[in-house]
Amino acid sequence: MSISSFLTKKILKSLFFPAHNRGKALPKKLIKILKKDPGFWDLPELPEIGSPLSKDGLIAKSQKELSKRFKTKRCFFGVNGASGLIQSGIIAMAKPGEYILMPRNVHISVIKTCAMQNIIPIFFNIEFSSKTGHYKPITKKWFKKIFKNIDFKKTKVVGVILVNPYYQGYAAELEPLIDICHQNNLPVLVDEAHGAYFLFCENLNLPKSSLKSNADIVVHSLHKSLNGLTQTSVLWYQGDLIEESNLIRSINLFQTTSPSSLLLSSCEESIKDWLNKKSLSKYQYRILKAKAIFQKLLRKNIPLIKTQDPLKIILNTSKIGIDGFTADRFFYKNGLIAELPEIMTLTFCLGFSDQRDFIILLEKLWKKLQKHSKTINNFKGLKPPFKLVETPKIDIGSAWRSKTYKMPLYESIGKISGDIICPYPPGIPLIVPGEIIDKDRIDWIRTQSLYNEYLVNSYIRVLNT
Ligand SMILES: Cc1ncc(COP(=O)(O)O)c(C=O)c1O
Repeated sequence: MSISSFLTKKILKSLFFPAHNRGKALPKKLIKILKKDPGFWDLPELPEIGSPLSKDGLIAKSQKELSKRFKTKRCFFGVNGASGLIQSGIIAMAKPGEYILMPRNVHISVIKTCAMQNIIPIFFNIEFSSKTGHYKPITKKWFKKIFKNIDFKKTKVVGVILVNPYYQGYAAELEPLIDICHQNNLPVLVDEAHGAYFLFCENLNLPKSSLKSNADIVVHSLHKSLNGLTQTSVLWYQGDLIEESNLIRSINLFQTTSPSSLLLSSCEESIKDWLNKKSLSKYQYRILKAKAIFQKLLRKNIPLIKTQDPLKIILNTSKIGIDGFTADRFFYKNGLIAELPEIMTLTFCLGFSDQRDFIILLEKLWKKLQKHSKTINNFKGLKPPFKLVETPKIDIGSAWRSKTYKMPLYESIGKISGDIICPYPPGIPLIVPGEIIDKDRIDWIRTQSLYNEYLVNSYIRVLNT
């Protein structure tokens, strides 16, 4: 089957990204241009349009309007996902050899940038729930403890990265955390890939957007948390701690010379759609409906885990002794496709279309799955084996560029990793270049690999030392 044939295949129920749900929730204006003669709209950087970095043209005008609307200094559309703009943001913040403080659950795009530029990550651990197998949101108390454990005189820390919300929807109160960073004169980049819509819904008891919590750079994935096409993203910039010219240069460094006019238009329309009163009330209604779906499923005794993002429905499969990967395969075979399988859970993303029929389908399949289950006691998430604060043993960039050889992961204890081991989704690295591979880490990955096919029999490149 060709890719194009697959793209038109029907799926009984898709609860994965992009959040427009196979076009159902795309902005009306985008649907209108897509209905025109196919390809008619695929234009180059004509002077009337320009690019995200040009001074004039429709893109510059739209970006200016939006940054004015949200009282930021600048905003830039991106066509290489949130990944691309996160990478630019990091390079604007740190030079090679400088340190950035970041939680252990950063996205792989952060690690790739560090490896590329030899920016040194100082990882801090996050509290973990063995009941869900997930990291908990970061509290102010925890964050203060992290800061106390860093020797700022010895290490040239130049910025902080925070991820909020997490893939599953857990969100912290960010303002106090950002305040702590700012008191230390450190700029903060918030990877809000999963939380763009928080910006438009202050009345719905959702987490406060990081943009309103004074983050210096905020990156949104528009296909994950608004109704943009895949690859669309936006970066918001404010404050005085990051130099604007550095940011512009960094965006330029990663930008294609031929950004897709369709994707750029999708960036614009997906944001403007949420500024349109009529569409906004439709989406807000969907969010309320998502909360109702959660409650209805609970009433049907389906074990769910609540997070701060109502659009994520997390099924706690461990309650019936089934891991999320097995459950995912079962649902997939039955036409219900989820977004994120993990050891103890399976996360569905409701997106922005009407999902009422999900309740009946999930209930039916859950009952069927229960029949297959053999309840195993003590199904607990294994705590990640990380220290409170740590940096890779040798520089991440040097390790990445060193001579390496390939060996089975499970035989690599005591070696230094030259590789990133990272299942996707969620795209959170388990080992990064320059880290020592110790027994605890291997045991932890081994437990995960019982469930995660990606990790079974995996190999790792280690340094020739
Ligand atoms: C927390 C987080 N940040 C960033 C990204 C990258 O987003 P994109 O796929 O838009 O590049 C992801 C993707 O999974 C993510 O989960």
